[in-house]
Amino acid sequence: MAMSSNILISILLLLLLAVGDAASTLRTYIVHVHRPDGLLHFDEDSLENYYRSFLPQATATAGAVDSDADRLVYAYREAVVGFAAKLTEEEGSGVVIGMIDSGVSPAHPSFSDHDIPPPPHRWKSSACQFANFTCNKKLVGGRDFTGIDATDGEGHGTHTASTAGGGFVPAANVLGQANGTATGVAPRAHLAVYKVCNPGGCNGEDILAGIDAAIQDGVDVMSLSLGAGTVPYASDPISIGSFRALQKGIVTVCAAGNDGPFHESLSNEEPWVITVGASTIDRRLPAVVSLGDGQEFVGEALYQPSNLSSSPLPLVATLNCEDTSNKNVSGKIVLCDPSNSFVRPTFNSSRAAAVVLRNNDLQGTTQLVQYYTTPTSTVNYDDGVKIAEYATDFGSNPNATIRYGGTKLHMKPAPQVGSFSSRGPSQSSPGILKPDIIAPGVNVLAAWSTGIGPEGRRPYYNVISGTSMATPHVSGVVALLKKAHPSWSPAAIKSAIMTTAYTKDNTGKPITDEKARPAGLFAIGAGHVDPERAIDPGLVYNLTADNYLPFLCGLGYSDDDVMVIAGKEVNCSRVGAISQAELNYPSIVVALKNATVVTVKRTVTNVGEAPAKYKVELESPDGVDVTVQPRDLWFSELNQEKSFSVRFERRAAVGGRSRRELEVDLW
Ligand SMILES: *[C@@H]1O[C@H](CO)[C@@H](O)[C@H](O)[C@H]1NC(C)=O
Ligand SMILES: *[C@@H]1O[C@H](CO)[C@@H](O)[C@H](O)[C@H]1NC(C)=O
Ligand SMILES: *[C@@H]1O[C@H](CO)[C@@H](O)[C@H](O)[C@H]1NC(C)=O
Ligand SMILES: *[C@@H]1O[C@H](CO)[C@@H](O)[C@H](O)[C@H]1NC(C)=O
Ligand SMILES: *[C@@H]1O[C@H](CO)[C@@H](O)[C@H](O)[C@H]1NC(C)=O
Ligand SMILES: *[C@@H]1O[C@H](CO)[C@@H](O)[C@H](O)[C@H]1NC(C)=O
Ligand SMILES: *[C@@H]1O[C@H](CO)[C@@H](O)[C@H](O)[C@H]1NC(C)=O
Ligand SMILES: *[C@@H]1O[C@H](CO)[C@@H](O)[C@H](O)[C@H]1NC(C)=O
Ligand SMILES: *[C@@H]1O[C@H](CO)[C@@H](O)[C@H](O)[C@H]1NC(C)=O
Repeated sequence: MAMSSNILISILLLLLLAVGDAASTLRTYIVHVHRPDGLLHFDEDSLENYYRSFLPQATATAGAVDSDADRLVYAYREAVVGFAAKLTEEEGSGVVIGMIDSGVSPAHPSFSDHDIPPPPHRWKSSACQFANFTCNKKLVGGRDFTGIDATDGEGHGTHTASTAGGGFVPAANVLGQANGTATGVAPRAHLAVYKVCNPGGCNGEDILAGIDAAIQDGVDVMSLSLGAGTVPYASDPISIGSFRALQKGIVTVCAAGNDGPFHESLSNEEPWVITVGASTIDRRLPAVVSLGDGQEFVGEALYQPSNLSSSPLPLVATLNCEDTSNKNVSGKIVLCDPSNSFVRPTFNSSRAAAVVLRNNDLQGTTQLVQYYTTPTSTVNYDDGVKIAEYATDFGSNPNATIRYGGTKLHMKPAPQVGSFSSRGPSQSSPGILKPDIIAPGVNVLAAWSTGIGPEGRRPYYNVISGTSMATPHVSGVVALLKKAHPSWSPAAIKSAIMTTAYTKDNTGKPITDEKARPAGLFAIGAGHVDPERAIDPGLVYNLTADNYLPFLCGLGYSDDDVMVIAGKEVNCSRVGAISQAELNYPSIVVALKNATVVTVKRTVTNVGEAPAKYKVELESPDGVDVTVQPRDLWFSELNQEKSFSVRFERRAAVGGRSRRELEVDLW
């Protein structure tokens, strides 16, 4: 669906919680209006390549935890922006998270069942297909769909599972960095593992079989850090499987994809899943490159050896890290470009004293660290260009040092959208804003299946990046919400997560992207997940599974296609068809092309206190008049539903090609 020739105006409508006295509670609505400039086209990769792009990055969500009493609050405040969650009573016990991934390393300490209660009675599975492991109260099931066993041969599934529901493991670090107590978001939740991927990729039939098994076993949440680009819903195993899950009340959380920063680069666009983009956290691992002429550039590195020469070493620049064979780099610092930020470069620089890895231009400020056996500093492109200029100024006898700064917390700005995080608009249903939410996905520490690092000091943790890492953070939050609110529908849980998300970073400015520009709705969706606030959203936008049928009919799917997705006979002329904007979604996208006026209705359910009054106050952006009717919503009881309409009117031609985001706050 080509959107590029139209001016698209997306409107995000959020209901935010305001805690206070119920009768006169002031509630907050936020409307963002965003108009992108020319949308770039995105070429789909094969499923396998696509999956690979998710693979090399992943776990532990938290950083230092000192006392048990304050553990999550402290951990998240220290290490993960926005995860200041006082969730000690809501640690997810009694909830089963199904990980559809590459298996796990079952004996990893993150999956110990120390202090974990038994799984809920309704848990049906006794499958435990690990070669050498008996399932426990933490790891309550393991099924293999790849023909080997459910053990993780590469690390991705171990990382994602420990991020969602790993237990507390003190002094987790990678080569001394990011040291602290590792914990999943829902440390007391149970994990069930469905291995559908191996290092060669993930087969669609295996994915569907894994999802089917998870539904039958009775998981509460499914976490899928995989995807295949834009695929029509009726032929996408994830769309179909997640719809069947929805019909059983199971929430599915999916990665948005690692094909950013281009527009229209999303995977997993269906409105019945939670689609997660990736953001940075406030932790950095500085590796300062000091040039002989006094310039300094702050890169990052995971491996920070203490024995790297502190006196200047000769600096040479080479085009790519795979090709240093013609140069004598012995004892020198080499500047080079890795060919792929997600794949560990095989640079032939074992003889080099150190390597400065230059990001490409598209990556902007997103610095992905990986474990290398050579001392490195990963620098952004602009800094790399300046280093290269100096390195090729041969008259000056170019030289440099790299100085390591250890692990730094509370760095600003954070969160910031990762350059690789896939962006909307959605191609399958452009009338639904995607991604839905962002969560930590850059340089995330979590469990790993093999020891990395030199012999003798091999931590079974790794720091990796991807929307794969962001996804299980949200899956963990869903587990906490399921525990806190067992009767909430999947749509209500998703609504709670979206409407309580925050859109400002730790400098108080709108969350930025890798180029330090305001990130925009097609990068952050509703904003950054805020687990603590999501527990108490006030109002939710609810939906039943059947509410999606007129949506699918309205998208033009045939009766047969809708039947494939819904798993039952559907006659579109009987269920009717609605426009995408009419789905009772927590965000609204309307295209004001020629037109002029679009009115959209929403229904909210009171899950907060009662009685409660919600009041709208609004400020219209340039070029568009927004009116909400009625301006007050009065709820006398819990679970009461009330509707309102939002009318958008385009006042003047909104011309020009500049990228602009308009934001309206309604108080
Ligand atoms: C199974 O576990 C035993 C005891 O820890 C170990 O010696 C053996 O190598 C393991 N086998 C496999 C296939 O992992
Ligand atoms: C990690 O932190 C723990 C607890 O503070 C400490 O005992 C341990 O020495 C630290 N490890 C490293 C490698 O810094
Ligand atoms: C380092 O570089 C500076 C400026 O480029 C130069 O003046 C100095 O002599 C160099 N030092 C060494 C040890 O090569
Ligand atoms: C620094 O220490 C590492 C690990 O002990 C060793 O492999 C490396 O050769 C040392 N490098 C230098 C320059 O001494
Ligand atoms: C690495 O460098 C060595 C020494 O220059 C050379 O013999 C070898 O072929 C190079 N390897 C690769 C993969 O370029
Ligand atoms: C490479 O350079 C180092 C130091 O500059 C020198 O000792 C060594 O002989 C050189 N090696 C080759 C193969 O030229
Ligand atoms: C949402 O709708 C479902 C299905 O009708 C219902 O079971 C649930 O109670 C409603 N409310 C919430 C908050 O989930
Ligand atoms: C669908 O419903 C319409 C209206 O009730 C009816 O005319 C049509 O025959 C039905 N189609 C099928 C395939 O049952
Ligand atoms: C938009 O308006 C222009 C000029 O009034 C007209 O030529 C064009 O057909 C309209 N496009 C649509 C999609 O209505």
